Amino acid sequence: METPQLRKAQLSDLDEIMEIEGQSFNEEAFSRKQMRYLLTSGNTFLVAEMQQQVVATMILLSKKKSKVLRIYGLAVSDKFRGKGLGKTMLSEALNVAKAGNYGVLSLEVKAVNATAIKLYESFGFKAVKELPHYFKGGYAAQRMQLKL
Ligand SMILES: CC(C)(COP(=O)(O)OP(=O)(O)OC[C@H]1O[C@@H](n2cnc3c(N)ncnc32)[C@H](O)[C@@H]1OP(=O)(O)O)[C@@H](O)C(=O)NCCC(=O)NCCS
Repeated sequence: METPQLRKAQLSDLDEIMEIEGQSFNEEAFSRKQMRYLLTSGNTFLVAEMQQQVVATMILLSKKKSKVLRIYGLAVSDKFRGKGLGKTMLSEALNVAKAGNYGVLSLEVKAVNATAIKLYESFGFKAVKELPHYFKGGYAAQRMQLKL
C-alpha cells in the first residue's frame, strides 16, 4: 500500500471529512457545522491523504495547562479500513502527545465498538470509566486512557 501522507486538515477538506464521518458514525456523528468549527478553532485536526484523497481523520483536543490530550475523533474511510491507517493515526497521536509533553492520552469510545476498542488496547489504552448514555442516541461509552 502507498504510504499515507499526514497533514493538517484544511477547511477545503470539509466535504471529504464529512463523507468519512457519515460512513463512520450514526447519530453521534458531528454535524457539518460542528466539523467546520473543529476545523477552524485551533485544534490539532489531522488527515491522512492517499491518491489525493482524504482517507482518515483525527481530531486532538486539549485544555490550556492540562496534561491530558484527548482524541476527540478518529475515523478511516470505509474502503481503506483494515490496512493499518487506524494504527498510523494513533501513532501520530502518540507523537503529538509526547512532543507536547502530555501525560495522558484519553478518549471516549462507544462501548459496543469492539473494533476500535481492540485497536486502542493494542496501543496499551486501558478502560478507566463506563459512561452510560454518553453519546447522542443514548449509547454508552468507555473512557480509555494511555499513560505516557
Ligand atoms: C476503528 C477504525 C478507526 C480502525 O481503523 P483501521 O484503519 O481499519 O484499523 P487498522 O487497519 O489500523 O487496524 C488496527 C487494529 O484495529 C483492530 N481492527 C481493525 N479492523 C478490525 C476488524 N474488522 N475487527 C476487529 N478488529 C479490527 C485490530 O486490532 C487491528 O490490528 P491488527 O490488524 O494488528 O489485528 C476504523 O474501523 C473506523 O474508522 N471505524 C469507524 C469509526 C470509529 O469507530 N472510530 C473510532 C471512534 S472512538
